[in-house]
Amino acid sequence: MNNNLANIKKSIFFLNKNDCIAIPTETVYGLAANAYSSKAAKKIYALKKRPKNNPSIVHYSGLNQLKKDCELNKDFFILYKKFCPGPITFVLKLKKGSRISKIVTNNKKTVAVRFPKNKLTQKLLKFLNYPLAAPSANISTNISPVSAEDVKEEFGKKIKFILNDGVSKIGLESTIISLVKKPEILRYGGIEIEKINKTLKKKIKFKSKKNKILVPGQGRVHYSPHIPIRLNAKNPFEGEAYLLIKKRKLKNKNYFYLTKNKNLKEAGKKLYKMLRLIKKLKYKKISVEKIPKKGLGITINDRLNRAAK
Ligand code: TXA
Ligand code: MG
Repeated sequence: MNNNLANIKKSIFFLNKNDCIAIPTETVYGLAANAYSSKAAKKIYALKKRPKNNPSIVHYSGLNQLKKDCELNKDFFILYKKFCPGPITFVLKLKKGSRISKIVTNNKKTVAVRFPKNKLTQKLLKFLNYPLAAPSANISTNISPVSAEDVKEEFGKKIKFILNDGVSKIGLESTIISLVKKPEILRYGGIEIEKINKTLKKKIKFKSKKNKILVPGQGRVHYSPHIPIRLNAKNPFEGEAYLLIKKRKLKNKNYFYLTKNKNLKEAGKKLYKMLRLIKKLKYKKISVEKIPKKGLGITINDRLNRAAK
């Protein structure tokens, strides 16, 4: 605990100097900086090599600070009560007078916000008098990091500090829902779509591609080990690493289990870790067993599809 407090103090030290640091969240690690400071936010974009037109998610400890920055509505409060803190991000209208940096929002009239569940990060956020802008702590298009070691692998000495809190419990990014007009899903994520539909008592559509506003990762390679991926494979071809969700009799060294009993929560948690491992082992191709398109399976399929592009 003392150690945790010392590390939180260090985090505050760097953040107050407008530096960016990595923070743990239940979804993936984030590359965080003061969301009210353009100077700080610019460092995130430089370090990640992130295109400037891709806005970042702003992380809050609770509603008090959020109220100063965004317009809240009925659907927001229903979803907030049910799922927060947790792996859901809301796109809301910016309030006039909000202090969020234009670098963070890419000058839009909206902002993406979320309430992470990781206890250490919650504590850090409570000590600060500003929210934290934080995209995933990986170089743009790479696999998202689910541990402090992954973050280090991405940035090496270029990152000043990593607040380490072990492995992310969910391992997949947050579900993004826009509440600016009619609710729309912008990215599948750690909260199952079925649960959101049930909570709002309506079927929420996934935003269609013809809409111009940037949808996370759209049209680009994303979440990618940069190795070809073949989906819905009944068996691996020669030389392929094979990702599985059901136990097989054979014990081949190219078999990598996301789960042995179709537990999709477990599969989600292990997905990025396995992709990173397969890359490290220098496999040149990956194949993946068919994963059911329901619950977190929808998110896992989404990430594999984008990684395969
Ligand atoms: O789980 C997560 O959401 C993680 C952790 C660190 O919180 N963060 C994360 O951030 O995945 P990032 O930047 O990798 O993905 C956030 C996506 C961006 O791709 C961006 O397109 C979208 O959110 N976004 C941000 N602001 C938006 C806005 N105003 N309207 C629409 N999309 C927005
Ligand atoms: Mg990302």
